[in-house]
Amino acid sequence: MRTTLQFVTRSCEAFRTLQQSLFFSPVSALSRHRRVDVLRYRHAHLSTDDRSYYITTPIFYVNAAPHIGHLYSAVIADCLHRYKLLQGFNSKFSTGTDEHGLKIQQASEAAGKDPLTFCTDVSQRFKLLFDSCNISYTDFIRTSERRHRQAVKHFWSVLWDKGLIYKGSYEGWYSTQDESFLTPSQVGDALDSSGKQVKVSLESGHKVEWMKEENYMFRLSAFRSQLLDWLRGNPRAVQPERFYHAALQWLQEDLPDLSVSRQRSRLQWGIPVPGDAEQTIYVWLDALVNYLTVAGYPDHHDQWWNVAHHIVGKDILKFHAIYWPAFLLGAGLPLPQTIHVHSHWTVAGKKMSKSLGNVVDPLERSRMYTTDGMRYFLLRQGVPDSDCDYTDDKVIKLLNAELADSLGGLLNRCTAPALNPDQVYPTFCLQSFPSEQGGRAVAEDYHMLDAVKNLPVVVQHHYESTHVYKALEAISACVRQTNGFVQRHTPWKLDRSDSKDQRWLDTIIHVSLECLRIYGTLLQPIVPEISSKLLSRLGVQPGERSWADANFLPRHRGMDCPFEGRALGSDSGVLFSRLESQSSNKQKPKKTEKAANLK
Ligand code: MSP
Repeated sequence: MRTTLQFVTRSCEAFRTLQQSLFFSPVSALSRHRRVDVLRYRHAHLSTDDRSYYITTPIFYVNAAPHIGHLYSAVIADCLHRYKLLQGFNSKFSTGTDEHGLKIQQASEAAGKDPLTFCTDVSQRFKLLFDSCNISYTDFIRTSERRHRQAVKHFWSVLWDKGLIYKGSYEGWYSTQDESFLTPSQVGDALDSSGKQVKVSLESGHKVEWMKEENYMFRLSAFRSQLLDWLRGNPRAVQPERFYHAALQWLQEDLPDLSVSRQRSRLQWGIPVPGDAEQTIYVWLDALVNYLTVAGYPDHHDQWWNVAHHIVGKDILKFHAIYWPAFLLGAGLPLPQTIHVHSHWTVAGKKMSKSLGNVVDPLERSRMYTTDGMRYFLLRQGVPDSDCDYTDDKVIKLLNAELADSLGGLLNRCTAPALNPDQVYPTFCLQSFPSEQGGRAVAEDYHMLDAVKNLPVVVQHHYESTHVYKALEAISACVRQTNGFVQRHTPWKLDRSDSKDQRWLDTIIHVSLECLRIYGTLLQPIVPEISSKLLSRLGVQPGERSWADANFLPRHRGMDCPFEGRALGSDSGVLFSRLESQSSNKQKPKKTEKAANLK
């Protein structure tokens, strides 16, 4: 204990020293070895023994309507937030809209609206989508809000006071679509739709323009070795692993200073640089600070900022894994605990884009397939490491197989009056299903019991690493095993007038309902409505649905089961109605609204 305290005290001192040295000289005088230790300590210390959790989505550009990729980011974050709540954490979940910058300025001009009205309209669309998809955010931030402007100005002033921002001249490529500065090696040639030769970003394919202007520069180059130390000392800071390596790779290359403002004459829609009304703060610096604003910055923000986790798409990794940590190091603030990266959705094999007319409207789809249906599909099919493809046929097949037939069928069988005339959670009989073999249960039944018993740990592991699809794969495999269990023992053929048969029948139903109770509990972060319906049907009360309640089949271990003998909840219909196949109505390219037509 003493050693730990000494270590903590020593580390705190070392950390203060590091902070001071960073504030006054970004090129830290500390030896490399010492810096790694301090950064590692800070990361580890902040993550231990804390019941607060803060999860964020990227804030969404309001230049166009939301699509399924946006909903995907939000659903992943919502899943983690709900999961942490079930675990008893105090969780904060923020999302919102990114409203400044040239791209939005141009979109509002094209729409013939003043920027704020334009942003308010589109921001409302995101809010409407998230509200109707049960995205249970605790904070919705808009960068045009006053609280955010204050946070950004304060953040800027801290960097300025530490000498990390200087006035310079930027000359180079800029992509308005990505709101990103590019080096010559990141730019290539391409032909535009009219066959004209243009320069594009090699990464995004978006058009770039040459710009030359006086603006403010951030000393990004000074943070290269500290960023490397942070990443090397925290291999789980960026997940999955391939994105961690991508971030490390960027740091092997040159890291030039970053332009962090634009001339006001070109960009009016943004936050003015404190003390220089001729310059507007670069939209990415502005946007990234949203995570701090929601945490309460510049006032009390430690409770949340010390436990921050970001969900980001792969296209914005550099902004989150390089620029953002560098800004934070410069401002003397802790770095995020984890940056969870996800890949993109394509549609019928093609990148989603307005020009191809294949943008999938998530609101329309969640009306067609239900909110839970869309949530389940995105999280079951979405693989963080690689791009995933969306088609309506896939959605229908998956939801029919796993939600309607497998899960819904199991619930229906075990609660149907034919098998369960008393409509209760029946009694478990240890003689029929003893702890060791010897009763009426067979080897496969014991395997199923083991799998369901371990399921909460397996699911927890996958939720935490945002490999949600693996958690759903594991749940789905267990549901299949439980269906197999029922099918194998054909309880409908048992003779109710025989007391042994009756006890075995009750045991089969008890075990199956216990399985369903575990599935319903673990699925709450994914499909909150379906889970609630399922658990209510089983008679599980709202106070009995936490992660700690996922304690499977206590009767098999000779313990009491609070549900045994309890009346089932009322029957409120099928769990998930089968969807009609739409093969006759395949993905027709659909003209989507242009920014200018956004209502
Ligand atoms: N405004 C910035 C983020 C600033 S965060 C401080 C931005 N906005 S965005 O609207 O373009 O993208 C928001 C999120 O949606 C990003 O995580 C992005 O990766 C994600 N997606 C955009 N297209 C996507 C797909 N096709 N598929 C999955 N996610 C996609 O970037």
